[in-house]
Amino acid sequence: MSKVAVIGAGYVGLTTAACLADLGNDVRVVDVDQHKIAQLQRGKMPFYEPGLAELVERNTKAGRLHFSTSYVDAVPGAEYAIIAVSTPEGEGGEADLSYVEAAASSIADAMDGPLVVVNKSTVPPLTGDMVSRVLQKINSRQPAAVVSNPEFLREGSAIQDFMHPDRVVVGSHDREAAEKVAKLYAPLDAPVLITPNIYTAEMVKYASNAFLATRISFINEIARISERVGADAKLVAEGMGLDKRIGPSFLDAGIGYGGSCLLGHETVLVRGGDAVRLIPLSQVFTEFSAIEDLEVLAWVPETRSVEYLPVRTATVRPYEGEIIEVRTKMGRRVLCTPDHPFATRKGVKLADQLGPGDWVPIATRAPSAAAPITEFNLLDGLTHVNLTRADVIVRPANEVLAGVTPRSLKPALAIGRAHNVLRAGAMRLTELDALGLALDRSTLKTARNGTEVPVRLQADEAFWRIVGLYLAEGHCTRDGSRERMQWSFNHTGEEDLIEEVRSFWARHGVKADVRHNLTATSVVVSSRVLAGFWLGVLNLGRNCNDARVPDSIWAQPLEHKRALLSGYWQGDGSWSLINGGPSVILECGTTSPMLADGLLRLLADVGVVASMRVGRTAKSTRDTYWIRCSGADQVENLLELVPETDRESIVASITKEKKRIAPTGYRREGENTAWVRVVDVKRRPFAGPVYSLEVPGAHTFVTTGSLVTHNCFPKDVAALAAVAEGFDYHPELLHAVMDINRDQRMLVIDKLRACLDELPGCVIGLLGLAFKPNTDDMREAPSVDIAKVLLAAGAEVRAYDPAAMERSKMLLPGVEHVKDAYAVAAGADALVVVTEWNEFRQLDMARLKQLMRRPVIVDGRNIYDPAVMKNLGFTYRGIGRE
Ligand SMILES: NC(=O)c1ccc[n+]([C@@H]2O[C@H](COP(=O)([O-])OP(=O)(O)OC[C@H]3O[C@@H](n4cnc5c(N)ncnc54)[C@H](O)[C@@H]3O)[C@@H](O)[C@H]2O)c1
Repeated sequence: MSKVAVIGAGYVGLTTAACLADLGNDVRVVDVDQHKIAQLQRGKMPFYEPGLAELVERNTKAGRLHFSTSYVDAVPGAEYAIIAVSTPEGEGGEADLSYVEAAASSIADAMDGPLVVVNKSTVPPLTGDMVSRVLQKINSRQPAAVVSNPEFLREGSAIQDFMHPDRVVVGSHDREAAEKVAKLYAPLDAPVLITPNIYTAEMVKYASNAFLATRISFINEIARISERVGADAKLVAEGMGLDKRIGPSFLDAGIGYGGSCLLGHETVLVRGGDAVRLIPLSQVFTEFSAIEDLEVLAWVPETRSVEYLPVRTATVRPYEGEIIEVRTKMGRRVLCTPDHPFATRKGVKLADQLGPGDWVPIATRAPSAAAPITEFNLLDGLTHVNLTRADVIVRPANEVLAGVTPRSLKPALAIGRAHNVLRAGAMRLTELDALGLALDRSTLKTARNGTEVPVRLQADEAFWRIVGLYLAEGHCTRDGSRERMQWSFNHTGEEDLIEEVRSFWARHGVKADVRHNLTATSVVVSSRVLAGFWLGVLNLGRNCNDARVPDSIWAQPLEHKRALLSGYWQGDGSWSLINGGPSVILECGTTSPMLADGLLRLLADVGVVASMRVGRTAKSTRDTYWIRCSGADQVENLLELVPETDRESIVASITKEKKRIAPTGYRREGENTAWVRVVDVKRRPFAGPVYSLEVPGAHTFVTTGSLVTHNCFPKDVAALAAVAEGFDYHPELLHAVMDINRDQRMLVIDKLRACLDELPGCVIGLLGLAFKPNTDDMREAPSVDIAKVLLAAGAEVRAYDPAAMERSKMLLPGVEHVKDAYAVAAGADALVVVTEWNEFRQLDMARLKQLMRRPVIVDGRNIYDPAVMKNLGFTYRGIGRE
């Protein structure tokens, strides 16, 4: 048993302390965070880490684990002091070592005998020396040895990683002290590497991290290329991983890590091209590049506000593996990959870290998004029902034809036809177009169908009520070329609704028949023109299974949204007393998931958080989505959803509540946010496309049912880095990996400069232009950057590529494109191998050298043997080798 002081009670410190205590040591933890220590003293964990609470509890009870804010409680008498404090990044991106320094000086103040100071924080090489200096300066009386012992644990599996490490690395200038630290790990039966100096151990951690990041960065790049050539990146990674020299780990993680996604059916509200639409993610992907300034409804965590923000990236990728259904109170569900992040009350969490106890936001009261449509033009739907303007018969307003003579129609109509037109007061729409007559207040019909409809319909409250009633009770049938729209009601009890629909159409000059049959009374309008508008422009769906809220509603004022909701609810909804009262619930059900999504969002827009339950009735083969609104305030807010005659009794019932009962299951916060609790995460296998979306600024977007989810982490390294920046986390290694990529290209220029002294006036030949051999793809080809820099530096650039010449000529007009490698070499001061085409390996090097003005070769792909090249008399420079 050893006496150990652990400095810092974070992920690393607390895990280390609890595990070392569990191995039988006497461990005392110090942290400057009083709140954290007070929590730990009460047995509460400051963060969630599986199994940690039990481990801490067990060892605290056994008297092997203590917590304090005072170094004096922990350091005196200890054999080891393990520094596990934070090392945040400094302003320039470097590690901020001030916490480590402060910890070292507090240790020095408190120590009362020989001590081994162990550095577990992730620090750059040479930090151990700094710690030694601080200890020595503050307390030269007591001998202290500094040992580097980097930690490799991962949050989420910290205990497992600590107890079963792949390796333990310790290093110190003091071998004895290093061995003493290794002894702490002896019970773990793990390989221990003791390095003869402290810098090597420090370097292992940085090098390991950089390497893993490089693998991720590498495989992400492979994935991007794979996508372009139609390869399956997962199989590429699998194929690579089977090579024992490569191994599978972190190749797969690279793809998964960078590709958190949602399933394509999850929806978002997007604004683009002056319209707002509710569309599935799969559609955002296809539209993203086509529509500039595409925006998506987002919820901003800092201000808890809801606004439209631009979409930065939308991607799709094939996925095979586990997906997660996140289920919350109020019935919101989202399907995503396990690594998809969510905005929670306690910050961002990944889907597979979510559990009961986490709260996720629902966005309410979305802002008015675009200029509302005030009037619809029914002609906009013609193509949807395969009509052309020539198929439409138009009856212009009386005053349009008043005073018109057959002769005045002559320019467009034969005299006989002109007589007929004036007699009938109607003509083909194409004739009206040709005559240039006004269309306003005309009526339309088709040659084969007599029902006349107006050209325009006002988007007023009455109109949206009729739309709501259609979503509840309507369908549209086709019979040959006939289209019949109908609203079907109960024979009794819904007479007012029947009259509302009939008289609405009558007011607009549309003949609507009221038909009684065995099961229902229907209001029927037979009009192909109207059906085209109804189905093609409003996109309301033909029947209850494909019904959906029209996109034009999203830009409408609140009273129109309420009118649609009230029409829908009075058609299809009901209200009832909960357990006989006094609480009231409003309920409706639909078999269309798109309609359910739209209704939930409309309700959220009027400030109501409705719950949803999905279930199947005994007779049904489809799921029904039950939407419920409860709570005194919410029900009062929605009184117009119930028939006028019932409103009084509802208010009377609610008034009887002693305390106004609010619905359970969510918590409101301000105007735009309701928090709902996660109840469950369900896992299941999935194979198919998954989609990601990136919204800068808020880093969140509002998805199905108004549930807010965090941005997907796109697989593109640069985008991932940007996401990390958004969290105030600077991904140094990602930047390094990206920088290395970029710098790699410029390395060639540096080497040329070094060999040629100066570039202006030199002739530089590029062997290869394509991004890689056996393709003509020039996207992201290094040749482009290299050529541009050389031209800008005043060099003459000449190039040859077996396949990419045509594309290159367009991209690099300043470059002289020649017929082969020898033509490139003729009179050149240097050659650069840019793409490793096989034919460049087979060149006659002696001939090449003879053709060149100066025999300089910069081999960007390391395809030649340096020794052979030197023997031939070349000045040869490879990459990473000379
Ligand atoms: N979290 C990981 O997965 C992980 C893995 C390996 C290595 N590391 C490295 O370990 C170190 C600690 O990481 P963490 O995630 O545990 O950090 P953390 O922020 O969770 O915990 C650090 C703790 O140190 C405390 N602290 C700061 N200054 C102090 C001082 N002068 N005296 C006493 N306590 C002080 C803070 O209050 C905090 O509780 C970092 O260098 C990190 O890079 C972290």
